[in-house]
Amino acid sequence: MPLTISPSSGLQGTITVPGDKSISHRAAMLAALANGTSRLTNWLPAGDCLATLDALRALGVRIDFQQTAETAATVTVHGVGLHGFSAPEKSLNCQGSGTTMRLLSGLMAGQAFSTVLDGHEGLRRRPMERVARPLRQMGATVVTRDGYPPIYIDGGNLHGIEYRMPIASGQVKSAILLAGLYAEGTTIVHQPGPARDHTEVLLRSLGVSVETDGSTIRVQPAQTNLPAMDIAIPADFSSAAFPLVAAVLIPNSQLRITGVNTNPTRTGLLDMLTAMGANVKIENEREMGGEPVGDLVAQSSTLTGIEVSGDTVVRMIDEFPIFAVAATQAKGRTVVRDAAELRVKESDRIKATVDELRKLGAQMIAHPDGFEVYGPTPLHAAVVDSYGDHRLAMALAVAGLLADGEITIRHARVIADSYPGFVSMLKNLGVAVVA
Ligand code: S3P
Repeated sequence: MPLTISPSSGLQGTITVPGDKSISHRAAMLAALANGTSRLTNWLPAGDCLATLDALRALGVRIDFQQTAETAATVTVHGVGLHGFSAPEKSLNCQGSGTTMRLLSGLMAGQAFSTVLDGHEGLRRRPMERVARPLRQMGATVVTRDGYPPIYIDGGNLHGIEYRMPIASGQVKSAILLAGLYAEGTTIVHQPGPARDHTEVLLRSLGVSVETDGSTIRVQPAQTNLPAMDIAIPADFSSAAFPLVAAVLIPNSQLRITGVNTNPTRTGLLDMLTAMGANVKIENEREMGGEPVGDLVAQSSTLTGIEVSGDTVVRMIDEFPIFAVAATQAKGRTVVRDAAELRVKESDRIKATVDELRKLGAQMIAHPDGFEVYGPTPLHAAVVDSYGDHRLAMALAVAGLLADGEITIRHARVIADSYPGFVSMLKNLGVAVVA
């Protein structure tokens, strides 16, 4: 499905964006392990999260799914308890979802049966030894196909380990912590950067002992079944990033995005935009299910180029395609370093972002661990491709709002992997979109 976007003369109003993808996955998995019935509202009905629900169903968990809006669902999970999963009849199909595969690998390592986790072609290209290695050290048998899916896991009899993660990854950390629930003794993880901590936040809210001391996290095995939960998922900062950057870049814009998760492990983009001169604020700060939440308020701004490296990269790991669009409009040079992880996301995000934005006129150079952008440059009408990457597709759509003519994005259906309702959101803001 191609998407054609016309230039915008300004975005004004108040919008909401869908629930957080990372938290939706984790809440469903932990609710499945709980004792009793959990109710998850504002849950994200996107392709990736639905893959998690289907995998949990294949493990014997009863789940009622009620779509409440284009962007939200209420999910009722009838928890089976920590040891209540049944061996699946077939391999678990994680579709295109890395989070489903990596987090479930941790849970499957704790089960007294064997499982195969597989997914579609895009997921089969993503590295899995990063989760296999620590889970093997904990005592599970884990076999990958030369480092890639499918993953075979024969679990049970785990013991705690002390593990230094070679890369900062919320998925790998979560897999180890989830396996740690089933291990004998303490599991300790040292992370090289501040990867998202939603698993820790949720586990703590359910009474599991998870201590964070700087970059070290210690989890104790779950002594009893987890309690059922009733939570509302806050809006996803990574989805809010698209209208947020659009409002900063398009003249005559003033936009409020309500109820967005502002967990500092996720908001590196906000810090970078502010440092570039953007008029972006968090208002109405509050807490939702142990997570900080606020309204993001953005106004048209003039930006200056900046360098992004180190821990900030980890705190905005999903935002580089849209950040690159912002950089094309910033005065001077913007440099991204220490971001080699972008090469193993839903696409090679360094190559794909640079190649596609160049087609629109951007002046960009790719590096092995990042990219350089020289701006500001006017963007032009063109036909571009998503490479099957939802975040690249949405970043290109925002570029379309700024361009001097129509931009058509091929293979834009993937947007629904993380942001159902993206096109409706744009239409409600007065953008001319042909889907
Ligand atoms: C995620 C962690 C990040 C992120 C992905 C979701 C998670 O991946 O890119 O979209 O929910 O834990 P890595 O752990 O590979 O950095």
